[in-house]
Amino acid sequence: MKALVYHGPGRTGWEEVPDPVVVDPTDAVVRIDTTTICGTDLHILKGDVPAVTDGRILGHEGVGTVLEVGDSVRTVSPGDRVIISCISACGRCTFCREGNPSHCLAAEGAAGIGWVLGHLIDGTQAEMVRVPFADTSLYSLPDGVPDASAVLLSDIFPTGFEIGVQYGRVQPGDTVAVVGAGPVGLAAIATAGLQGAAQVVAIDLDDNRLQLARTVGATAAVSSADDGWADRVRALTDGQGVDVAVEAVGIPATFAMCTRMVRPGGSVANIGVHGAPVQLDLQDLWIQNITITMGLVNTTSLPMLLKLVAQGRLPAEAFVTHRFSLDDIGSAYETFGDAARTHAVKVLISR
Ligand SMILES: NC(=O)c1ccc[n+]([C@@H]2O[C@H](COP(=O)([O-])OP(=O)(O)OC[C@H]3O[C@@H](n4cnc5c(N)ncnc54)[C@H](O)[C@@H]3O)[C@@H](O)[C@H]2O)c1
Ligand SMILES: [Zn+2]
Ligand SMILES: [Zn+2]
Repeated sequence: MKALVYHGPGRTGWEEVPDPVVVDPTDAVVRIDTTTICGTDLHILKGDVPAVTDGRILGHEGVGTVLEVGDSVRTVSPGDRVIISCISACGRCTFCREGNPSHCLAAEGAAGIGWVLGHLIDGTQAEMVRVPFADTSLYSLPDGVPDASAVLLSDIFPTGFEIGVQYGRVQPGDTVAVVGAGPVGLAAIATAGLQGAAQVVAIDLDDNRLQLARTVGATAAVSSADDGWADRVRALTDGQGVDVAVEAVGIPATFAMCTRMVRPGGSVANIGVHGAPVQLDLQDLWIQNITITMGLVNTTSLPMLLKLVAQGRLPAEAFVTHRFSLDDIGSAYETFGDAARTHAVKVLISR
């Protein structure tokens, strides 16, 4: 088969590689119908994720058709259409049973990390992929859900909802501010209403993304390129500050924006992957009674979000800005990697 193979920072190739096979009885081999590129893949290409080594097939998001299953797989069969979770969960270890499969202890890739696809084992940017723990890592796709919506459930929608909205403890009537309107921030914006947010404020530097944020659920959009951004957010909350501030960028400045605009008693939910130390001003924050949360997505909300997508209740397809064929994945990376110019949000790559 053909696959996108990583060869060190900045170097990949769409190459002929051996077809994946069932190794363990809990495995499935899935034909990729649609995959996409995550911001994390760009981090890998920059060399920010040294655990990804030469020869690894990239990609942790995808929708496909089951080709073959191991002897102990019960919930999916050849021919089934499935969503591949970015978290491969054994379903049996302590952390899986506690609802934290992002820290699955099974020795697939490495014990203690559930994100293994396109990281520690070969991933989904390929014609086929071996998926470990198929029963607890694949989700059957109902008829009528287009790949363009389904593929957002592998990672982006669960991340925005679980690590932004759920960890942020959004309550009915809340004002939620989301800093960073990339795919992940937009997913938090689109799902904040599920827990009753009254106002959802998108904050970004990029006017195009702010415009898109309005179409997926933001009730207000504030450019942080303007000096007065904090006053504009404060004015939406009678001067008190927001109930929940979601960080969806991953740099110190945007985390500081969140602690600055949260009201006493509110929550800061950090989603961003930080590559550098971030200052925490406890001397100012200790008296504010705020909660700060963070974490790696579990994708435990995937089945619930899938039901909403199947009923057209989440604007998933609005995230898809560009479409490519698998053998043109290089152009997909170029387009996604230059989002400021191309206005790319999610690029769909299909067979
Ligand atoms: N915790 C998890 O499990 C998890 C899962 C997936 C992604 N992530 C992380 O979530 C973050 C967001 O992912 P993404 O794919 O949406 O990223 P992205 O880079 O596409 O989007 C980031 C957005 O932030 C905006 N931005 C940059 N600097 C800003 C500033 N100073 N003020 C306001 N906006 C600013 C950019 O214009 C962009 O729209 C990344 O750090 C990613 O690694 C975390
Ligand atoms: Zn991802
Ligand atoms: Zn486990």
